[in-house]
Parts: sequence; structure tokens; C-alpha cells
Amino acid sequence: MSDDQEIEYKFKLPEGFLLGVSAAAHQVEGNNKNNDWWQAETQGKVPASGLACDHYNRFEEDFSIAKQIGCNAFRISIEWSRIEPEEGKWAVKELEHYHRVLLKMKELGLQRFVTLFHFTLPKWLAAKGGFEHPDASQAFARFAWFVAKNLGQEIDWWMTINEPEVYVSSGYVLGKWPPFKKSKYFTWIKVYNNLIDAHRLAYRAIKLVLPQARVGLAKNNVYYEPGRQKNILDKMAAKVADYFGNYYLLDKISSSLDFIGLNYYFYERLSVDWKKFRLERLNQNFDYKHLGIIDNIQRSDMGWRTYPKGIYYLLKELKKYKKPVIITENGIANARDDMRKDFIKQHLYWTTKAIDEGVDVRGYLYWSLTDNYEWSDGYGPRFGLVEINYDTQRRVIRESANVFQEVINSS
Ligand code: FCB
Repeated sequence: MSDDQEIEYKFKLPEGFLLGVSAAAHQVEGNNKNNDWWQAETQGKVPASGLACDHYNRFEEDFSIAKQIGCNAFRISIEWSRIEPEEGKWAVKELEHYHRVLLKMKELGLQRFVTLFHFTLPKWLAAKGGFEHPDASQAFARFAWFVAKNLGQEIDWWMTINEPEVYVSSGYVLGKWPPFKKSKYFTWIKVYNNLIDAHRLAYRAIKLVLPQARVGLAKNNVYYEPGRQKNILDKMAAKVADYFGNYYLLDKISSSLDFIGLNYYFYERLSVDWKKFRLERLNQNFDYKHLGIIDNIQRSDMGWRTYPKGIYYLLKELKKYKKPVIITENGIANARDDMRKDFIKQHLYWTTKAIDEGVDVRGYLYWSLTDNYEWSDGYGPRFGLVEINYDTQRRVIRESANVFQEVINSS
């Protein structure tokens, strides 16, 4: 927005600040054949993920690149369907694999962030109805317990669930992700509540094994504004969306949270179109001039509007929970690599401003180290600091990857 364009983005990161990258198993590992996504892929409902970035075999190279570009933290996810390929049966070989992964991170001095559920379910659980079924929360807690018992010593920061609202809306409202349901109320609310239970149960299960563990979740918060700043209905719409989208779940689980993981991508302006009786989300390339709204904000290759200052407003709101915050994802699809560096610097600038104003932010993880499988958008979007050639699996470090060293050097 205009007030941003005047700013010189100078800042210093606090001592000990974690700077790193974030990823998820199914998007990078390759050959994740035992989950519901793979199943949907083989049915042609979503693009095939195939070998992805072959990170399963190339994790050492990827962690070394992360280290080389200046990271001191890395977020991965442990693929549930690998560890528990059949209900109640644990795959020791896969456990050993993740053990090697975590040890490699330690050896390189990377703080280890681990997500337990990043959108993919074991096939056996999906067949039973996934999180529509209350048993899924118990099964998830048992998985969390198993990971804590066997790998827990090697995990520094835990995230139970990634982006509950995105999971529910994509899979159960919009119907574009497994299980492709378009529920109006009942089903998605049930799934949402079961996820809340799943978080609480998993939190307890991990703490039972490791009382000192730091357990949180990755919460996708959106910065909402009224489309027309002075319109009362638009203002109300923004307030309601803000509460239910951003804080309802955090309020519910705040006693089972040691830190808050914030994923920030979206800035939305909401407008109530009274004549058509509907809510307009200004997140695409639509023309809103008929509502008197001028929107010339920068967009990523995916059409997502970028608004770095939004992270500042959201961080300030999180202060009320009195918990450490880690930015567990923030990123941009930008194949030309001409926006990424400024994008990161600007988000870090606003983050340090929030820190100066008393928000306890401990780290920033960019999404993602490499290009990867972007769910129903397949391999089109390019989020990586490192480019992947999917034919050869060659990694080419993009110019924007220098941003971390630049930021570290000036801090
Ligand atoms: C987030 C997801 C992550 C990735 C980024 C671009 O919503 O958590 O897996 O797809 O968006």
C-alpha cells in the first residue's frame, strides 16, 4: 500500500533469532505412496506428485544448501503414512530414516521444527473417514506419542497440525483437496472440531513423554480489511472473518500451546455486495471499481496479493496470548525471482518492528528452500530460494537466496 512505498527497509534481527526455511513431506520427498493424496493423484483428481524434489534421498544436499545460504533452522514434516503404513503397525525402517534426517540437521546446526500433520493422511485412516471420524484424533495422538518416544529427543519445536482452516476449507468446503467434499455446515464443522481435539490430545501425548517439549501448531492467519474503509457492512465482515478465521481456534487451544506458529500469506479485503447479497473477497484479479475500491497491490505468480505490513498487524494481535511466536511460513511464488528478496526483507522489517513493540517473535521460516509440489496447483508455482529442475533434480540456488546472508551481515 502507499504508506509502504516510502519506507527504507533497514532493520536488525535480535540476537539468537532463528532464520530458516519450511517444507512438508509430501511436497518434497517424492513417492509418498501410502497417503490419501497419492490415491487422489492416481485417480487423476489432482496433479501427480511423483518423485517431487526427491528430498527423501537428497535431504543431506538440501540441508547443506540451507546451511550454506545462512539458515540456522529448518522445518520438515514427518509423513504419518510412512511411519504407520497400516493401522497400529509401525515401520522401523522409516523411523530410522527420519532419525538420520534429524541427526543431519543437528550436525549442521539447524534447529529442528517438525510438523506431524501437514495435509496428508495415511490411506487406512482416510478409508475410515479421516478426521470426520472422532477416532482419528485418538489415532493422531497415538502417532504423536510414538514419534515422541522414538524421535522426540531430536526434535526442538513441534507443530501438531498445519493450517487447520486451510485443510478444512480446501478438503471439506471447496472440495478441491481430498476428500473432495463440499459441505455447507455439518461435516466441515465436525472435522474442524475433531482437529481441535486432535491437537489437544497430541499435545498431551507428547508432553507425557517429553514434559519439556515445545509444542505448538502452524496457524494460517489472514490480514483482513474492509474493502471500503468506511462502509459499516464491510467493516463488520472484516471483523467477523478476523475473529473466526484467526483467533477462534487459538482461543480454544491456548492452554495447550507452548508457542504459536504463524503462517502468513494472505491479505484480504472484504466487501459486502448488498445487491447480489454476497461477500466479495478481493483476492483475485477482479475489477472492484464499481465498489469504489482501487487495488493496485503487488501479486505473486499465483495472483496472491502481497502485503508485508499485514504480518506486523497480525503479530501485534498475537501478543495477547503471551506466548513465543515463530513465523513458520511466509513465501511467494515468483518464477522470475525478481520480487522474492524484497518480499522477505519487507516481512522481516515488519517482524522486527513488532519485536521492538514487545511481541516475542523468535524466528522466521521462509516457504520454501526449494520449489516443490504445490498441492492442487502441481509443479507450476515456484516458491523456492532454490530452483528445481524436475527432469534432472538439479538444484540451482537463486539470487534471492543471498537475502539471508545480507540480513545477517547487516544485523
Ligand atoms: C501453505 C501450506 C504449504 C504451502 C504454502 C504455499 O498454505 O502450508 O504447504 O503449500 O501454503
